[in-house]
Amino acid sequence: MKEKMPCKVNLLFVDDSEDICEILRDLFHEAGCQVDTVQTGADAIALVEQKFFHVVLIDTVLKGTDGIEVLRQIKDISPRTEGIIITGNATLKSSIEALNMGAFAYLIKPLDLDEVRAVVQNAMDQHQTMTEKLLLKNFSENIISYIPSGLLVLDREFNVVLANKSYCEMFHTTAGDTEGKTIQEIFPVDGLDLKLEKPHGGDKLACGMELRCSSPQTGEKVFHVSTSEIPLPTVTGEEAGLILVIQDFTERKRLEDELIQAQKMAILGQTAARCAHEIRNPLQQICTGAQYLRKYSPVDDGERDSLEGILNGVTSLNRIVTEVLDYARPIRFNCHEVDIHNLIDGVLFEGKEQLERANIQVRKSYGATFGKVWVDGFKIKHVFQNIVRNGVDAMPDGGELTVATKITRKTGAKEPLDILEVIFSDTGCGIPESEIGMVFHPFHTTKERGIGLGMAIAKNIIDLHRGEILVESKVGEGTRIIVRVPLR
Ligand SMILES: Nc1ncnc2c1ncn2[C@@H]1O[C@H](COP(=O)(O)OP(=O)(O)OP(=O)(O)O)[C@@H](O)[C@H]1O
Ligand SMILES: [Mg+2]
Repeated sequence: MKEKMPCKVNLLFVDDSEDICEILRDLFHEAGCQVDTVQTGADAIALVEQKFFHVVLIDTVLKGTDGIEVLRQIKDISPRTEGIIITGNATLKSSIEALNMGAFAYLIKPLDLDEVRAVVQNAMDQHQTMTEKLLLKNFSENIISYIPSGLLVLDREFNVVLANKSYCEMFHTTAGDTEGKTIQEIFPVDGLDLKLEKPHGGDKLACGMELRCSSPQTGEKVFHVSTSEIPLPTVTGEEAGLILVIQDFTERKRLEDELIQAQKMAILGQTAARCAHEIRNPLQQICTGAQYLRKYSPVDDGERDSLEGILNGVTSLNRIVTEVLDYARPIRFNCHEVDIHNLIDGVLFEGKEQLERANIQVRKSYGATFGKVWVDGFKIKHVFQNIVRNGVDAMPDGGELTVATKITRKTGAKEPLDILEVIFSDTGCGIPESEIGMVFHPFHTTKERGIGLGMAIAKNIIDLHRGEILVESKVGEGTRIIVRVPLR
C-alpha cells in the first residue's frame, strides 16, 4: 500500500467499536496514510466540515444514528470524498441503499483486512481518476473561456452547443441566451455560409470568411469567421459538428482602408505635383503674353475684357498649382518666437473684408496673456487663414466666428507638457458625420471652386509641430476646429 499511495491520503473511520478503529488505524498508518477515527455520526460530520478526507469508512449502525444517512450528509458536504459502508448484516436492501447514497463499496463484518486494504485502494484510484478528469475538464473549459477569439460550437443542425466568454463579450450576450438556439437566430451577420462535408466531422479547416454585421448592440463591425469540422461526442457515438472561430477585424479593416487611401493619395499627390510643375512654364508664358497684349496692342473694350478673363484664369490656375506644390513639397521649418494673439489678429484683419461682406460677427476669447510661442509663424498663419476661409465659406448667410485660445497642461507623460489650444468655432452649415474623417484627405472638397488641400496642408503643418488638429461638427449647427500645439 505504501508504494501505491505516495501522496498524502486522509482516511476517516467511523465506527462505535474502538477496537475496530484501532486495528484499521494501525493498518493504514503503516501504509503512510493520515488516519482519523470517530465513534459517532455527529463527530464524523463535524470533522468533514473542517478537513478533506479522500475516503471515509463508516459503520451502518452507529450509536443513535444510521451510518448510511451520515454518509449522505458527508457526501453533501464533500462530494469528492469516497464512502465505504461497513455492515454486520448485509441485506440486498441495505446494499442497494448504500450504493444509492453514493457509497463506493461496502464491506461485511467480520472484516478481512486484505479486502479492506484492496477496497480502500480501489476507492483511492477512483478518487484519483475523478480528480484528473475534473482537472482536465476545468483546464479545457478555462482555455475555451479565455481564448481571445469568439468561439461557437455547433451540432449538425447548426444549433449552438457552446458559446465561449469572448463570443458573449463580443456580441453582448450570455451563454444561456445563446446555447440551444440556431446559428441564424443568434449570429447577426449576413452571408454566413455553413456546410458540413464529412458525416462524422473531421479536421477540415474551411477558409475564413469576412463578414459585416450591424446591430444595435455591436454597431458596424467586420468579423473574420473561420470554420472547422469537428467530431462531437454523443450518447450513441460521434457526429459531425462545426467550430466557428470569430475575430473582430473592424479596427484592422479600418487601418487597412486608411493605408490604401493614404497610398492612393500619395500617388495622386506625386502625380499632381509633377503635372503642376509642368503647367507652370506654359502658364507663365500665357500670363506674360496676355500682359504684353493688354499693355501694347491697340485693343477695344471687348478684347480688353477677354484679356482680363485670361489673366484671372491664370491667377486662379496659379493658386491651384502653388497649393498642389505646397502640399507635395516637403515642409521646411523656420521656427521663431511668435505672439500667437498678434498672429490671429493679423489673420482676422486680413480677412476683415470677406468677413464683413458675408455678415459674419467675429468674437475673440483669448486666454490670459501668455508668453510667446515657439512655432513657424508663417506656416501657422497659413493654417489659420484656411480655417477662417472655410468658416466664411460655411456661413454664406452670415453667422458668428469665435476664436478662443488657452494653455492646457497634459500630464501623464514623463514631464507635464504645456499645450497651446486655438479653437475656431463657426455657426455655419456643419459637416455630415460621414464626411468628418475626410476633411483632411487631400483633394476632398465640397466647393465648386475648392481644391480640397487647405486642411490637408494644415494637418501636415500641425503634425510637424507635433500637435494635433481636430474637427467637431454638427450639420446645421456649426463646426469647431481645434488646433493644439505643444509649447517647448
Ligand atoms: N468650417 C467648416 N464648415 C463646414 N465644412 C468645412 C469646414 N471646414 C472644412 N470643411 C469641409 O472640408 C472640406 C475640405 O476643406 P479644405 O480646406 O481642405 O478644402 P476646401 O476649402 O474645399 O478647398 P481649399 O483647398 O481651397 O481650401 C471643405 O470642402 C468642406 O466641405
Ligand atoms: Mg479650405
